[in-house]
Amino acid sequence: MCGIVGYIGEKRCTPILLHGLKNLEYRGYDSAGIAILENHSIQIQKEKGRVANLESLVNPLCLQGTVGIAHTRWATHGKPSHVNSHPHLDSDSCFAVVHNGIIENYKVLREFLEEEGYTFSSKTDTEVIPNLIHYYYTLQKETSISAFLQAVSSTCQRLEGSYAILAIGKDFPGIEIAVKKDSPLVIGKGNKEFYIASDMPAILEYTRDFYFLEENEMALIEKERIAFFDANLKKHEKLLTSIPFDALSSTKRGYEDFMLKEIYEQPEAIRRTIANRIQFGKPIDFSDISFSKKELTHLHQIYIVACGTAMHAGFVGKQIIEKLCHIPTHVEIASEFRYGSPFLSSHTLCIFVSQSGETADTIAGLRLAKEKGAKTLAISNVIGSSITREADQSIYTYAGPEIAVASTKAYTCQIALLCLFALYLSELRKTEKVEQIEDLKRELFELPEKLEEILQKHELLQNIANQVYQETDMFFLGRGIDYYVALEGSLKLKEISYLHSEAYPAGELKHGPIALIEEGTIVIGILTQDALLSKTISNLQEVITRGAKVIAITMAELPQDLFEFVFKIPTTNSYFSPLLSIVPLQLLSYYVAKEKNLDVDKPRNLAKSVTVE
Ligand code: M6R
Repeated sequence: MCGIVGYIGEKRCTPILLHGLKNLEYRGYDSAGIAILENHSIQIQKEKGRVANLESLVNPLCLQGTVGIAHTRWATHGKPSHVNSHPHLDSDSCFAVVHNGIIENYKVLREFLEEEGYTFSSKTDTEVIPNLIHYYYTLQKETSISAFLQAVSSTCQRLEGSYAILAIGKDFPGIEIAVKKDSPLVIGKGNKEFYIASDMPAILEYTRDFYFLEENEMALIEKERIAFFDANLKKHEKLLTSIPFDALSSTKRGYEDFMLKEIYEQPEAIRRTIANRIQFGKPIDFSDISFSKKELTHLHQIYIVACGTAMHAGFVGKQIIEKLCHIPTHVEIASEFRYGSPFLSSHTLCIFVSQSGETADTIAGLRLAKEKGAKTLAISNVIGSSITREADQSIYTYAGPEIAVASTKAYTCQIALLCLFALYLSELRKTEKVEQIEDLKRELFELPEKLEEILQKHELLQNIANQVYQETDMFFLGRGIDYYVALEGSLKLKEISYLHSEAYPAGELKHGPIALIEEGTIVIGILTQDALLSKTISNLQEVITRGAKVIAITMAELPQDLFEFVFKIPTTNSYFSPLLSIVPLQLLSYYVAKEKNLDVDKPRNLAKSVTVE
């Protein structure tokens, strides 16, 4: 989704801004632009399409400025076009602004400004912001930095919705103002310079020292100093945080695509996520969570709230928590949960799962849970992300940066961490025998190696992809935990190969969807649960009878003649099977997309982190 980059310092900022925008390309966008302060004027270049288009327009020799802002836009209001791209100026070209988020009351504000004589050139919600800044600035009848600051503050008080804003003014050659509400903004500190970005990866190669702007907080940034203010312009101090982050892992390291690299990184990522917490013969270590033993043993229910793939990981977590810990566990889509009326109390634990930690709906769900007095726990892949800063407690997946829009390694790490958390709760609540928990720990510990075995069989999936990539529809079927893997497998296929697919609990098909099965329809059956094996086989037989070709993903010995293809995964405890059975489905989606010559890492219309609701 939209990305912001800013720079203020002594270096020419154009290359830094363009490079930062490139680092954010993985988030998904449809236009890009920059604004540079030069000789008391604001130079803007912007264009529809990729950052490379913008780069070809920008003559670096003409742009010498050392203060600038830049943006990649993911269209919400107004189609992708030159005029709708950011940065946006006010009608007098005094102030330029880049903005992430949505201004919900922009129509009213636009009408107000039009009555005041302001004109608009774009269809965006954003254009009201520079005009409002101009309006409030001129009201003050003085040309000082504090008037600029006051104008931005007054503007924010009129805005409804979400925003991360970076503003510059033509008469303020050494100043940038940053402010945020419900959309992240970080400020990196260098030597006599500051880097500003919506996401750390944009600027990680320049600094590891960051300020994270809080809600309604504003920063006045000059090259050698920075000052922070609250919504009432009261000044306060702020701590600088150093982030350990492996910038190198944001490169493809020889893989053709980030997604493929991230699929292959899964064994290592899972090892990193679980290794420090497991010690055989000792309790699982979650000493980084400071909920008391009493609080955790007295839980009445758990909610897992998330979106997309993170929610699918939550479904797997629910099954394991309910079975091992005997706590009723509900999984909720964050965009529904935030407007629902969940029954929450201090005996409820709400777990918010988010790779990015910046998903707008998940953050809103977290705030609702806190308001209602529930205990909140964040599971995220990004240290310092919004969700981890707002939740009572946070634990991390150590998947490393996930760049491809389609989530793979974050998903398996989320499941691994939820499994461990379930084992931990079970130990605390003494709901399972000690030996059983020890066996499960061992099993979990051995999983990365089994996952490596699956990766070695990638050619089999490449061959299947070659046979099915021209299909228009596919079905994914499973029962129990396998159904949740079916959901994730189907989402992966849709996302990156634009092939329509549906996932159903295998027993549900005959209540309607079986009408869609015809001669040659491809059905993927997931069969990893011993207790449900014969039931799922019967359901698959029903579609085979109606002409479907079934590809089975299984740990069991299945009759080969019944299926088009049987892909065997190594055996593991049925609780943990999703960590293995999803891998062939990830690879299948990847190879189908490759067969179709699609951009695997940046699928159309999608954004890596969805920061608007
Ligand atoms: O960053 P988050 O985990 O909160 O993101 C949630 C979803 O937007 C994300 O999982 C999305 O569904 C992915 N593109 C799936 O591959």
